[in-house]
Amino acid sequence: MIKLGVLASGRGSNFQSIIDSINTGYLPASIEILITDNPDAYAVIRAKENGIPSVCLKMQDFKTKAEYYGRVVVELQKRGVELVILAGFMRIVARPLLEVYKMRIMNIHPALLPSFRGLHAQRQAIEYGVKIAGCTVHFVDDGVDTGPIIVQAAVPLYSDDFEDTLSKRILEMEHKIYPYAIKLFCENRLIVDSNIVTILNEPKFDDNIIVPNLKKT
Ligand code: GRF
Repeated sequence: MIKLGVLASGRGSNFQSIIDSINTGYLPASIEILITDNPDAYAVIRAKENGIPSVCLKMQDFKTKAEYYGRVVVELQKRGVELVILAGFMRIVARPLLEVYKMRIMNIHPALLPSFRGLHAQRQAIEYGVKIAGCTVHFVDDGVDTGPIIVQAAVPLYSDDFEDTLSKRILEMEHKIYPYAIKLFCENRLIVDSNIVTILNEPKFDDNIIVPNLKKT
């Protein structure tokens, strides 16, 4: 059982998909703590409903980013957290969290990285005119949405899509690939070498899924 700590700022639907995956027995993990920077985050209600302790740390209560993330580390370590999950956490993660949990912080981004980093990724995809969109789970490094890619999934982008219709289609895939990526970590299958993640004995997941080290046959 791997101990998870989740950081979320809002709705928390990815947080919920992880809770559900644990409850069904798919994910051999436990969520030890939810940390939020937003006291009104719906994720806090989800935590309460599921008996998960939550802590609200507001950025304005800390003098520096380093102090803020230092406190985050304390909260995580107090509970023995081994893997940190960013689930709609609307801040750029910094030291010391990045150092202490090096290659043990995951994020999900609603685009096929390295395309459309940063905010409003779905809108960026529509405005660019791509025909395939998707989502990416990656390890977090010191860039914005730049860390090693773990799992990706693609969805079509249709001519009559708006930001909300595309976001909904992508979100459905997010809810599948985030638990999947965490499961790979829990099973000790992820090897990171510079920017490449290799998945050991990769299980077959879904025809729609694109994994970075897909073997050519
Ligand atoms: C998701 O689209 C995720 O890809 C992005 O932020 C959104 C969070 O949604 N990082 P939710 O809070 O998990 O519902």
